[in-house]
Amino acid sequence: MSAGDGGNLVASELEPSAAVTDPREFARPENIHKVLTNLRAKDPVHWVEPESFDPFWLITKHADILEVEKNADVFRNGDRSTVLVARDMLDAIGAKFNSPHLTHSVVNMDGSDHRAYRMLTQAWFMPGNLKKLSDRIRVIARDHVDRMMDRGGMCDFVEDIALNYPLRVVMEILGVPENDEGMMLALTQQLFGARDPEKSRDAGAMSDPSTALNVFNAVLGDFYAYFDQLTEMRRKDPRDDVATVIANAKIAGKPIAKREANSYYVLVATAGHDTTSASTAGALWGLAEAPDQLARLKADPSLIPGLVEEAIRWTTPVKHFMRTAVQDYELRGKKIRAGDWLMLSYMSANRDEELFDAPFEFQIDRKPNKQLAFGFGPHVCLGQHLARLEMKILFEELLPRLETVELAGQPKWTQSAFISGPKTLPINFTAA
Ligand code: HEM
Repeated sequence: MSAGDGGNLVASELEPSAAVTDPREFARPENIHKVLTNLRAKDPVHWVEPESFDPFWLITKHADILEVEKNADVFRNGDRSTVLVARDMLDAIGAKFNSPHLTHSVVNMDGSDHRAYRMLTQAWFMPGNLKKLSDRIRVIARDHVDRMMDRGGMCDFVEDIALNYPLRVVMEILGVPENDEGMMLALTQQLFGARDPEKSRDAGAMSDPSTALNVFNAVLGDFYAYFDQLTEMRRKDPRDDVATVIANAKIAGKPIAKREANSYYVLVATAGHDTTSASTAGALWGLAEAPDQLARLKADPSLIPGLVEEAIRWTTPVKHFMRTAVQDYELRGKKIRAGDWLMLSYMSANRDEELFDAPFEFQIDRKPNKQLAFGFGPHVCLGQHLARLEMKILFEELLPRLETVELAGQPKWTQSAFISGPKTLPINFTAA
């Protein structure tokens, strides 16, 4: 498929360090894919020394990322930032918080701490529990499909459908009322799209670490003020939602502290929608360029889980997570030293020729599809079953009502080196 992501690789002068650190490059992923493809072939465990970042190992092979994630005692999350952050910003965070992290949540915990905090909500996100939410999710899906059909054959699938649907679902699960969703979306985008001028609260402030940190802190402050109130409400009046679980959570008999509770809310609220929005839009982009696959899906809805898995692989909304080695380790013949930082490039793993035939093609019947977009090991995405379920339900509702779909212009990608997917997806469609 040609969908802007390397189907037709273009010649690139990009250096690996610029390719994976410059948010602007993620708006034209074909160049990054060219670099990553070369690295997988020639130097899959590659040392990069970007100008404004601490150096790190760039891990591009599927098998190597699995090895790192399986060895969670050696490659840890807590010691340094788990996402790529510029050196001056890390210094500013360290000085202000006395920690490498802006928040304290499961993504930056290890070992027994991580297990204890993860177990607080894990049952909520398992398929058995999600089953009972299917009917509510289907109502939200139907509402969004109606909304699309009301557009009369033309819409921006991201703006009109894909952005809002996962937001509505995750807020429902968390317990945030519909009226407050707009604010949640804006705050999330200000956190993850801070360098994208169209999403940032103050893109101008991003060039200086201390002003940038002030912006991030203000965004988090807004989140925390909101979640403090929610905690109060759910302590007084418990309900069947994730907010009630977090508000009343205890570890070793003691309520969890405010910072940890607020970090948990922010993690669930933010991790749960931009990611799924990206893969939902990726699915429709794929189908807009492959009418034969759309026809097969319409004829046989049992193919929908394959569409979901392939869209998640093809889009890979989370581009990387970082790990820090706490002891020396040999990986593919390279000597990783204690203290070294590693970037796990899920974006690259999901195009690994060793695992995937024709990795740049969008194939709804790809088998096996061992996509790594949710990570692996103890930190594997807590929301993976929810993400799959909500995408499946949306396409079960959408496909019977969709006859044709085609691109009505070139889609754009979000400028972010962490979470990126289609930012716009203009389409023409006919209703069935
Ligand atoms: C962790 C991707 C949807 C909540 C992660 C990780 C990735 C990821 C790559 C890190 C895994 C690792 O370190 O091995 C995605 C993608 C999604 C998605 C691609 C959608 C297509 C969701 C949803 C939720 C969620 C819907 C919740 C509502 C979390 C949480 C973690 C996490 C809480 C941290 C888990 C831990 O550190 O123990 N996700 N995610 N994600 N995700 Fe997702």
